[in-house]
Amino acid sequence: MSRKLLVTNALPYANGDIHLGHLVGYIQADIWVRFQRMRGHSVHYVCADDTHGTPVMLRAEKEGLTPEQLIERVHGEHLRDFTAFGVAFDNYHSTHSVENRFYAEDIYGKLKSGGLIDTRSIEQYYDPVKEMFLPDRFIKGECPKCGAADQYGDNCEACGAAYAPTELKNPYSAVSGAKPVLKTSEHYFFRLSDERAVAFLREWTRGTNAAGERRLQAEAANKMKEWLGEEGENKLSDWDISRDAPYFGFEIPGAPGKYFYVWLDAPIGYLASFRNLAAKRAAAGEHIAVEDYTDASRAAAAGTEMVHFIGKDILYFHALFWPAMLKFAGYATPSRLCVNGFLTVDGAKMSKSRGTFITAHSYIAQKLNPEWLRYYFAGKSNGTMEDVDLNLDDMIAKVNSDLVGKFVNIASRCAGFIGKRFDGRLGEADAAACAEFATAWAEGRVANAYEERDYGRALREIMRLADLANQYVNDHKPWELAKQEGQEARLHAVCSTALTMFRDLTRYLKPVLPALAAQVEAFLAIPAMDWQGDWAPLPAGHAIQAYSHLMTRVERKQ
Ligand code: MSP
Ligand code: ZN
Repeated sequence: MSRKLLVTNALPYANGDIHLGHLVGYIQADIWVRFQRMRGHSVHYVCADDTHGTPVMLRAEKEGLTPEQLIERVHGEHLRDFTAFGVAFDNYHSTHSVENRFYAEDIYGKLKSGGLIDTRSIEQYYDPVKEMFLPDRFIKGECPKCGAADQYGDNCEACGAAYAPTELKNPYSAVSGAKPVLKTSEHYFFRLSDERAVAFLREWTRGTNAAGERRLQAEAANKMKEWLGEEGENKLSDWDISRDAPYFGFEIPGAPGKYFYVWLDAPIGYLASFRNLAAKRAAAGEHIAVEDYTDASRAAAAGTEMVHFIGKDILYFHALFWPAMLKFAGYATPSRLCVNGFLTVDGAKMSKSRGTFITAHSYIAQKLNPEWLRYYFAGKSNGTMEDVDLNLDDMIAKVNSDLVGKFVNIASRCAGFIGKRFDGRLGEADAAACAEFATAWAEGRVANAYEERDYGRALREIMRLADLANQYVNDHKPWELAKQEGQEARLHAVCSTALTMFRDLTRYLKPVLPALAAQVEAFLAIPAMDWQGDWAPLPAGHAIQAYSHLMTRVERKQ
């Protein structure tokens, strides 16, 4: 049965560049989407920029731009970077959009009529010079525990202590330098502590989705248990969803001067991007039934799935607030969260001072092949929340030995003979020699690993098959057969067999290396490969194109 999937990636903040850390999760999602499509499933893959909030507002001001101008520029840069790495969203939208305002107001209105919105006065630090309330990250001072200077309002980078901004000694505003004052204002809260929400979240965490899969990875489910507490316990607090002007965001209906907190409308941006995609497709004459994905009862009837790929730092928002918001507004809840770990470089957090903070753009500007990184990240992904380490020597070794040494090498050693000696036409492949390939295909070994997002396991199986293919070429030595009299037929069969094996390996690698796979499809003169049907060798008599080199080695100096 064909699945109907809506797949999303976390929406990157519009106040920063895309870096290699971000790319871990985007590449993982893109691989999964490409794989599902090859299987014949329907996938809508969307993302957007997360544009609202104080940091974007202040950064625009600093650059002498309006927030709208800033987010427009960044939107272009982000899309350029994702495209360069083959992360091929069907739509890359913005949370500052009419669709997002529509859904934010609709969801908020429904939560309000459901009795899940409260108002309450709270006291916060206010910058009297800049005339604005200060988010924790914009208040600095001395750590209340160790006394270190210039620490942020939420935690100390020197001793690791976490505290409230009001506990800082000698606080000052990071925006104007002024001494902040305490000021009261009314805030809006989503009543996450409501027993209906708690009961729903317990059920949602434990249950399985329509496809019979667990909604959360084991580590994420454990986190949820921690947050939700024991049965009968209620550890959840209400969530502050409003911010006072000045704020770059959507004003709350019926609450002048109050804005939705950026994290309220950020995940709603998934739906906004999807709706915007449907509008674009409709203009081209294609119909996407948006409500089959967004409306709870219609989604259940249609069997659609909504799958979110996110990093581990934003699990709290996606596993608590987001499903609860959707549920009590009558929207379809997420089928599944796929949570990735963080990227470290040489075992440590990326750091600007150590030069390990690498932007996507600088990688491309260095003329490095983006598929090298896709391959490396895929090899390090196992479907869990474990961190992923980037080590340059390891990456160079992997790319050179696996992709160039094992994979490309098969084609480069056999293709020339087909061109020179057989007029570009394949002969009969030796089916017996391909037995292990046929079995791997029939058993779906690689497919299962992709499905489970254990791409490391998929690549290990692919490289095991690549070793078999190389062994076959080494055993039959086409370069020697070519020099011997009367070995024409043998040479033809060996090269055709090896190219069939090479076709298999490419098909398996296609979700990870789409550009390379397209080059191979052109070289083998075959239609775009999918993941359907029975295994069959390339047919005898089929004409291929001349071979041109597929991938170069990585040099350390690059
Ligand atoms: N804007 C929020 C997400 C809103 S989703 C409704 C955000 N943006 S972000 O730009 O900080 O991060 C975007 C994605 O990249 C998130 O999934 C985040 O977890 C991930 N990563 C950011 N830095 C990362 C690493 N160093 N390593 C791996 N993933 C990282 O969070
Ligand atoms: Zn400290």
